[in-house]
Amino acid sequence: MKALVASVLACASLLSFNQAAAAPIEIKFSHVVAENTPKGQMALKFKELAEAALPGEVEVKVYPNSQLFTDSTVLQAMQLGDVEMAAPSLSKFQKYTKKLQLFDLPFLFEDMEAVDRFQNSPEGQKLLKSMESKLLVGLGYLHNGMKQLTANDPILTPADISGKKYRIMTSDVLQAQFEAVQAIPLKKPFSEVFTLLQTKAIDGQENTWSNIYSKKFFEVQDYATETNHGLLDYMVVTSSEFWYGLEDDVRAKLQKAMDEAIAHGNAIAAQKSEEDKQKIIDSGKTEVSSITAEQREQWVNAMKPVWKMFEDEIGADLIEAALKSNK
Ligand code: LMR
Repeated sequence: MKALVASVLACASLLSFNQAAAAPIEIKFSHVVAENTPKGQMALKFKELAEAALPGEVEVKVYPNSQLFTDSTVLQAMQLGDVEMAAPSLSKFQKYTKKLQLFDLPFLFEDMEAVDRFQNSPEGQKLLKSMESKLLVGLGYLHNGMKQLTANDPILTPADISGKKYRIMTSDVLQAQFEAVQAIPLKKPFSEVFTLLQTKAIDGQENTWSNIYSKKFFEVQDYATETNHGLLDYMVVTSSEFWYGLEDDVRAKLQKAMDEAIAHGNAIAAQKSEEDKQKIIDSGKTEVSSITAEQREQWVNAMKPVWKMFEDEIGADLIEAALKSNK
């Protein structure tokens, strides 16, 4: 009888060992945008590549549209081990590092090539590791593109948005940027923007063409102006506990899948920026304007003093390094 019990127990523990060994590593990837965006497509590409590189060993579950976490809760959830990956915009990390505020400085980068040059530089790469003490590791940067302004009244000069309520991401730099032109900035999660615009609780917002299009902001805003006044890019992050707890070869394969997925997302970002702007124009629902060199100068003069306000927190050397990437 004893022998029988022992062998049943042995079988049971072997079975549970095998089951445990066979269970794939689950990677929940949470994000806030639609699937037809650079980030949405990047996340799906990562799933495809990671699962192909590690068949049966990993399972990537992508949750778009703030289905799992909003941008105000995802990083804390990651620290607690409730989600493995996310790609918040660089504006949403200020609780974890002040250095990334660099990317919010208005009119810092001349174009996306300059952004690429900086992000690939030693200074840019070092920033990926700037939150390790907060248990967050950056796996790479992903582009969305330059931000534009939308509102229900025409916007050409800073005076046009004076006194108007603008939704911003949770960034003190963005707050200072709008205060510099006497607008009223309100920090709100991305998931609330459409309703805030639709109900006219706010007057306008800043975002990229792909977000304005995919979240239908253009359907509830009469005007959009191509100001290219700032950058909306992302950092793909994971928890250091999760990442460094993986076997070396698994981590290397996942990093490779991520690098390729990011390259794919970046190619889409470049293309979507133009395409989605055109779709908004073609819809006839929003009048899209551009600004003259003189009007641009007015925006630059009004907003650039913000750089000095954050120079100590960001570091003058980092701002200098970013400026060098503008050739
Ligand atoms: C926003 O909040 O406007 C963006 O960061 C959303 C996103 O992730 O692109």
